[in-house]
Amino acid sequence: MSLTPLLEHTLELVADRIGDPGPRVFERLFLEAPDLLALFSNDASGSVRGEMFLRALECLQDAAGAGRFATGLVAAEHLSHQVYGVTTAQFERFFEIIVDLFRDTLGADWTPELEAIWQLALSRLRVGAAAR
Ligand code: HEM
Repeated sequence: MSLTPLLEHTLELVADRIGDPGPRVFERLFLEAPDLLALFSNDASGSVRGEMFLRALECLQDAAGAGRFATGLVAAEHLSHQVYGVTTAQFERFFEIIVDLFRDTLGADWTPELEAIWQLALSRLRVGAAAR
């Protein structure tokens, strides 16, 4: 299987098993770092969180595949998030939490090939080397 179908395959299996993964990603984030909850106090509807999750997911998919926009977009978001008070480690962790959730959701269906692709995406989105 080539790259794009593999990524889509992950997302389809995840959606079949847990529906929208977005809320679970934020559950995990706030369990790890409860102080971040306060940053979303103006997001009662959850629309900012939903948009942020979708953008992050698009960046992961782009980074694993065509690499058309993710590096630039993530560099810009990294800077704007520093203004919100999000550290570089917290920013990068968001991508990892998404991949962790996918791995846990797929369980035995998570293959070494999938691990390699999603790790490649994570490595391409690391902004910390220059910023730390
Ligand atoms: C733990 C990590 C992160 C935290 C705590 C965080 C926090 C926030 C907060 C508080 C906002 C709302 C800002 C405002 O409008 O006042 C926001 C918006 C946004 N974040 Fe993040 N962020 C994180 C990681 C990321 C990552 C990795 C991306 C990757 C693309 C991202 C993309 C966005 C986007 C696109 C928005 C705008 C959404 C909208 O207003 O419609 N964030 N983030």
